[in-house]
Amino acid sequence: MTDRTDQDRVLIFDTTLRDGEQSPGATMTHNEKLEIAGLLDEMGVDIIEAGFPIASEGDFAAVSEIAKQARTAVICGLARANFKDIDRCWEAVKHARQPRIHTFIGTSPLHRAIPNLNMDEMADRIHETVTHARNLCDNVQWSPMDATRTEHDYLCRVVEIAIKAGATTINIPDTVGYTAPRESADLIRMLIEKVPGADEIIFATHCHNDLGMATANSLAAVEAGARQVECTINGLGERAGNTALEEVVMALKVRNDIMPYRTGIDTTKIMNISRRVATVSGFPVQFNKAIVGKNAFAHESGIHQDGMLKNAETFEIMRPSDIGLADTNLVMGKHSGRAALRSKLKDLGYELADNQLNDVFVRFKALADRKKEIFEDDLVALMRDASLDAETDRLQVRFLRVICGTEAPQSADLILSIDGVDKQVTATGDGPVDATFNAVKMLFPHHARLQLYQVHAVTEGTDAQATVSVRMEEDGMIATGQAADTDTVVASAKAYVNALNRLLVRRERSGPDSDYKSVSYKSVS
Ligand code: KIV
Ligand code: ZN
Repeated sequence: MTDRTDQDRVLIFDTTLRDGEQSPGATMTHNEKLEIAGLLDEMGVDIIEAGFPIASEGDFAAVSEIAKQARTAVICGLARANFKDIDRCWEAVKHARQPRIHTFIGTSPLHRAIPNLNMDEMADRIHETVTHARNLCDNVQWSPMDATRTEHDYLCRVVEIAIKAGATTINIPDTVGYTAPRESADLIRMLIEKVPGADEIIFATHCHNDLGMATANSLAAVEAGARQVECTINGLGERAGNTALEEVVMALKVRNDIMPYRTGIDTTKIMNISRRVATVSGFPVQFNKAIVGKNAFAHESGIHQDGMLKNAETFEIMRPSDIGLADTNLVMGKHSGRAALRSKLKDLGYELADNQLNDVFVRFKALADRKKEIFEDDLVALMRDASLDAETDRLQVRFLRVICGTEAPQSADLILSIDGVDKQVTATGDGPVDATFNAVKMLFPHHARLQLYQVHAVTEGTDAQATVSVRMEEDGMIATGQAADTDTVVASAKAYVNALNRLLVRRERSGPDSDYKSVSYKSVS
């Protein structure tokens, strides 16, 4: 996989399932993780960081399964700088054709204070843990966390130790998104010049986007000699997120004239995976997000449209098809059949079994009765609708009628099925959504706190579907629910109930002695 003689090849290391998934509220289910890993492998990602195996039984199971299923990608797991973490990581990744252990420790003054190690003690720890990892696995990545705020002399010293102990990739994280492009490049250049053995290994760059510079910092590092970029789909990640895979890959493709580097990514798969990650993580993509935002290829102003009709290159630096976006978004209507639906969903990245297709087809017809034109985005919203896999859910919305108007309070009449038994209530509230949520709470009392309530119109027009995301938190567990409907209040009720169902599943899985409130990767024990 890693040909160190191919100087123009940049390896893409995707950490959507580890750094991305660790972002509060972005938790994915086991099956969702396997699906995303499959899509990453298929699109040509070189290394998939599949999780943090010691964090929980769930993480361990997901990393092991992804390792077994991977076809071409290297499968990597994260481990803190101790033998227990590293052994657990190896147990999970060892099933892969190409396994990798990624071990790390915070090296900046602030991070050194956490395990209370002085510089020499930390250097010893790095030597021992990287040696241990290398005795288990040929492919070892080491990261000095918060490298961009680590003293340069000390950084050179510990990088040299890690290389001597057998690390094959050295990753330089900008953990808090603090660096800027010139500094990012200078740091990589300095390490390459000063550290003995640097030409034997691959340098990676791992940037966070707190100042909006993650992509620029990653590209600057590549120009200085880094040959692995760590990133996530849609830039998913804690706080302002990580470097966005699609931005780095498309920048290298579109501006190959000034950045003559190649990746192995099939860019036509970008749009599908972006949609899937947005769906399963519950983090919608901002409309004007570079590459994958809804408006990234939309030309609304008269001048732009005129130019585009004459020559698309007037305002477009890449074609929608380059990222797998169909030129026209208008897809289907009332008379479209099952085969057409299956084929369109396949184009959008959804391969359905016959029984699933039947279910979606019924919903598609119901939607087509209410909405004349069905666009690609409508189909994606339909697939995101949580009630699609609601059969096994403990809570299900059966009926909802709201009364709203200029006079408060508004009221909601709701029938909720709870463990198969229908229960009914009428509740009031400050607006129809509040009344509906109050009705759910009356029928199913809970302590979960609403953290986020978000509504998006899927397409234009007053008959547009609304997709609603609801994020709930209870005792440190976070779950996001989503639903779509042409009626915003119905979508809200379903999204709220979906979030509760996900919390219930999580609570059941974790049990009283669970390790759910798992170790934080920011602490080194
Ligand atoms: O941002 C960071 O420092 C990390 C490390 C664990 C590599 O994600
Ligand atoms: Zn990170």
